[in-house]
Amino acid sequence: MAQLAASIVSHDEEFKRQASRLLRAGGVPVGIVEGGRDDVAPDLFVVDIRFDSSSGMATIERLRASHGAVPIFAVAAAAESDLILQAMRAGANEFFPWNPGGADHGSRSMEESFHGAVRRTAAKREASNAGGRQSCTTHVFLGAKGGAGTTTVAVNSAVELARLTKRPTIVIDLKPCLGEVALFLGVRPRFTLLDAIENLQRLDKDFLRELVSRHKSGLDILAGSDQFDRPTATDAGAVEELLRVLARMYEHIVIDAGNTINACSVAALYAAETVFLVTNPDVPSIRNAQRLIERVRQLGAGSERVKILLNRGSDQHLIAPKQIETALGYGIFQTFSSDYRTVSEALNSGVPLTLSNHSEIAAQFGSFTRSLVGRAEVVKPEPEKRRPFLGLL
Ligand SMILES: Nc1ncnc2c1ncn2[C@@H]1O[C@H](COP(=O)(O)OP(=O)(O)O)[C@@H](O)[C@H]1O
Ligand SMILES: [Mg+2]
Repeated sequence: MAQLAASIVSHDEEFKRQASRLLRAGGVPVGIVEGGRDDVAPDLFVVDIRFDSSSGMATIERLRASHGAVPIFAVAAAAESDLILQAMRAGANEFFPWNPGGADHGSRSMEESFHGAVRRTAAKREASNAGGRQSCTTHVFLGAKGGAGTTTVAVNSAVELARLTKRPTIVIDLKPCLGEVALFLGVRPRFTLLDAIENLQRLDKDFLRELVSRHKSGLDILAGSDQFDRPTATDAGAVEELLRVLARMYEHIVIDAGNTINACSVAALYAAETVFLVTNPDVPSIRNAQRLIERVRQLGAGSERVKILLNRGSDQHLIAPKQIETALGYGIFQTFSSDYRTVSEALNSGVPLTLSNHSEIAAQFGSFTRSLVGRAEVVKPEPEKRRPFLGLL
């Protein structure tokens, strides 16, 4: 499901924080749009009318007048029938009494109905997009530990997505301090993620074409930062905004988020339809994977979006898949076998293994990627006369 852009109208920072969390915990990717931005039209407004209902009603009326049919959720201190009527008359679509975060029945049912309303909004938006431009799907790859194979898996999946669908696809290297995505793909980038987040206002199609590097498969690459200490927490808002801008230009976004959860990778987690947790069948990886899953849950980033990828699944003397599934509480979505030679040959030549080789692991990437896209999206192979292009690789 494509990302929703939500705007929270309130003077209370704590309310904004809690409302963001609530918006994002319902299984739909939600980006928070800062008030006052003219270039992003929200898909949903949350209006805080807890303290001053008359100015709250005026805000709802103003938003209704300026934003047509965009859903407005009014949040009041309590469910008073007069207030509900007034809010609905002013133009609100949903009304919620505010008491999130508690363990009691009232709080849980408020959260559930809020999540239900967010999901309905997303489904309506999806339906209204159908027939128009395809919406964007964002996949984040997060490693259980360094060396788990996150970059390998992200890069090979991105190439295969671009190749199979022939639709606009970009891979973004979000790892702080010198990621390896561009290196794995054998391209020498002129610009990086930092150039993109520093020029967000100018980021239209033409400017973006300059910033990204194009891979032979058709995949665009936004290379990782070339600075050791960036992106940092202060860049997280810009990263979130960048992902929203890119979602309007691409149909598939693949993010290599490295193996830590920091402010920037959290922005990616919130934007993602799926979070692929790349792990190896060894004790440190499984232990870290458990901790990362727990962290995703705490962040309210929708732990139902997590899918487990077991990389180097066939290594000897390691933990059995069943034990891994029990330890993590998730089924294994896909296993990639251990094949150091094939993987490192692909790495050394800068040619992703799906393009260069007929090994078991290449086939696993093929079927994994096909599972990410609908059947209709897979484009038939090129006719014979175009083949020399592949032969050159
Ligand atoms: N399935 C695999 N079989 C064998 N070696 C692998 C496999 N996946 C990755 N590797 C190797 O492991 C190393 C680390 O991979 P990388 O993708 O850089 O991990 P990460 O991004 O998680 O740090 C690389 O040398 C890579 O070639
Ligand atoms: Mg990596």
